[in-house]
Amino acid sequence: MRRAVELAERGRATTLPNPVVGAVVLDPDGNPVGEGWHERAGGPHAEVRALQAAGERAWGATLVVTLEPCAHTGRTGPCVDAIVAAGVRRVVLAVPDPTELAGGGAERLRAAGIEVESGLLAEQAEEGNEPWLVATRLRRVFVTWKLATTLDGRAAAADGTSRWITGDAARADVHRLRAECDAIAVGVGTVLADDPWLTVRDAGGDLAERQPLRVVVDSRGRTPAGARVRDAAAATWLATAEKVGAGPTGQVDLRRLVDRLYADGRRHLFLEGGPRLAGGFVATGLVDRVVAYVAPALLGSGPSVLAEAGIASIAGIRRLEITDVTRLGPDLRVTARPARPG
Ligand SMILES: NC(=O)c1ccc[n+]([C@@H]2O[C@H](COP(=O)([O-])OP(=O)(O)OC[C@H]3O[C@@H](n4cnc5c(N)ncnc54)[C@H](OP(=O)(O)O)[C@@H]3O)[C@@H](O)[C@H]2O)c1
Repeated sequence: MRRAVELAERGRATTLPNPVVGAVVLDPDGNPVGEGWHERAGGPHAEVRALQAAGERAWGATLVVTLEPCAHTGRTGPCVDAIVAAGVRRVVLAVPDPTELAGGGAERLRAAGIEVESGLLAEQAEEGNEPWLVATRLRRVFVTWKLATTLDGRAAAADGTSRWITGDAARADVHRLRAECDAIAVGVGTVLADDPWLTVRDAGGDLAERQPLRVVVDSRGRTPAGARVRDAAAATWLATAEKVGAGPTGQVDLRRLVDRLYADGRRHLFLEGGPRLAGGFVATGLVDRVVAYVAPALLGSGPSVLAEAGIASIAGIRRLEITDVTRLGPDLRVTARPARPG
C-alpha cells in the first residue's frame, strides 16, 4: 500500500476533477507483478492499468489500491468488472469511495466472491487525496489559502507595493501548487493593485498544460477591461454579486461561490488573497489549508496579510496545526490546517 500511495502521487497535477489513485497487483506469493496510477480524468483508472501490466499473472492475485474501486460507468467502464474479469482473488483498499455515483465497489466485489479488506494505511492515502475527499464529502471546493508574508505579518508595504516579498524558490513553488488546483481566486483589490496573470508558469513540462480557471471575486464588476486576468491564457470567471448572490454585506456570498465552483466540476480552489478576501473566507470557515510563505524580512507598516476575519477577541482565535515546514531558499513554507477539536 505504501507503494500504491507513492504511485498515486504521480497524478497529483493532472487528475482533477478526479482523485489521485495508485494500485499494485501481487501474485499469490506476494511478488509485485503490475503497477498503475490514475493519470488524468477520462484516462484508465489505476486498477485497470495495474491489471493490464500484470496480464495473466493477475489470476488469483491480490490487488492493493488506495481508493475503493469504482462501480459505475463514467468516461471509462467500472473497475469492479475489470477486477472480476482478471480473476483477482483478494482486494485490499485504503479509503472507501464517498461518491454516490461511483461508490459501492467493495460490495459488488464481495458479491462476486472476492475477498475485500478496507482501511490499510487509510491515513496516508487520505492525506494524499484530502482536497478531493473533502470536496466530495462537502460538495464544495476544497480551499487552500496561499499567502506571502514578512516576519512581521505584512502582505504589502505602506504604499501598496508587494513584489516581491519572497524569493525565486518560493515563487516557483507557488506555480507548482497552482498546477495542482483547478481554480485560482483573488479579490478585485489584488487585480487593481497588482494586475496578476494568475496562470501556471515555470512549473516545468506538462504541468503548465492544464490552466486552472481564474476567478476574480468582484461584487460590483470593477475588474478593468484591460486586466491581465482577462487575457486568453486561461479561462476567467468574474464572480459578481449579481451572478453568485450577495451575502449580508452586499459582497459576493462566498458559500455560494464554493458551491457553484463544485457544481461546475471544480474540486480544489487556490485562494491567493488578498487580505480582505482571505478575511472573508476565514470568517465563513471556508479555509481548509493554509500555505504561508514567510520571508525573513520586516516592513513595519502596510496591510496585514489577513484583514477583517470577524475575530474581535482572543477567545475567537483560529488555531491551526502545522502539517509541514519546508525551507525554500531564504524563505520558509509553513503548511497548516484548522486544528481539529479535542
Ligand atoms: N502577500 C500576499 O500574499 C498578497 C496576496 C494578494 C494580494 N496582496 C496585496 O494585497 C493588496 C490588496 O488587498 P485587498 O484586501 O484590497 O485585496 P483582495 O482581498 O484581493 O480584494 C478585496 C476585495 O474583494 C472583494 N470581495 C468580494 N466579495 C468579498 C467578500 N465576501 N469578502 C471580502 N472581499 C470581497 C471586495 O471588493 P468589492 O466589494 O468591490 O467586491 C474587496 O474589497 C495589494 O497590495 C496586494 O499586493 C498580497
